[in-house]
Amino acid sequence: MDRHVWQAEHYRRANSRQFRTAVEALELAGLTGGRLADIGCGSGEITRAMAERGYTVAASDFSPSMVEATREHCQGFPVTVQVQDARELRLDGTFDIVHCSWVLHWLDDIDHALTEMARAVAPGGALVLQWSRGNPRSCEGDAVTVLHAVMNRPRWRDRLADTPFAMHQHPADEVAARLLAAGLTLELPPTEIDAQFVADPVALGRIMASAGLAAQADKLGDDAGDFVTEVATEMIAANTLNPHNTRLIARAAASRAG
Ligand SMILES: C[S@@+](CC[C@H](N)C(=O)[O-])C[C@H]1O[C@@H](n2cnc3c(N)ncnc32)[C@H](O)[C@@H]1O
Repeated sequence: MDRHVWQAEHYRRANSRQFRTAVEALELAGLTGGRLADIGCGSGEITRAMAERGYTVAASDFSPSMVEATREHCQGFPVTVQVQDARELRLDGTFDIVHCSWVLHWLDDIDHALTEMARAVAPGGALVLQWSRGNPRSCEGDAVTVLHAVMNRPRWRDRLADTPFAMHQHPADEVAARLLAAGLTLELPPTEIDAQFVADPVALGRIMASAGLAAQADKLGDDAGDFVTEVATEMIAANTLNPHNTRLIARAAASRAG
């Protein structure tokens, strides 16, 4: 199984709070209707919520399971969905809103994605981004370090050797600078969003198994529950639950050169 390929059904069940924050961010950008691109659309909740609010949506994700789920969830709405890696993003034309929530931290390199998303914002339109680990590069001892330490324990090490975990850091000031260089202005400068942390290890483990640790959980089969609960317990004990979730809204000038 491709280590990035998340499973839509599990994801949808565990992540309603994330869906709400994305809709909130989109509402902040102002919902005028028109064309919206949803990059890394996941199981399609946000895609559909925006279609219900009058947008024609072009959605993409790099997991076939997510694309299929979005297609099913958005049947009857003006939505097209395709499998596309955000690192090779190609957006057809321009959009009144380009939206990308909870994806950037899964990309090792975001340069291409940011450039393409910024390019595709229509005059007067908005780019809405939310991602984790948007704090400055200083995560020594953060949740990812804790996770790697657990993965390296004898019970898990060999079994997870071919499902490495990588969650990347893209500091907010670097992302903002990239967008300014692309000609956008910051309507909402990078803002850390309050997260309501789940402090129950079993519940937290379940959330992680549906998303970032899906590949590891899949690999471990019946032992997946033990693994994700162990990871969650250690993260809670080490007080590393704050994912430094960041929101940013950038806007294109009403008339754009190029
Ligand atoms: C946390 S989910 C977010 C989904 C949706 N935006 C939401 O807020 O509910 C992250 C999504 O990013 C997708 N993803 C991860 N790496 C990707 C890549 N390189 N290109 C496109 N999508 C990617 C995953 O398949 C997953 O659907």
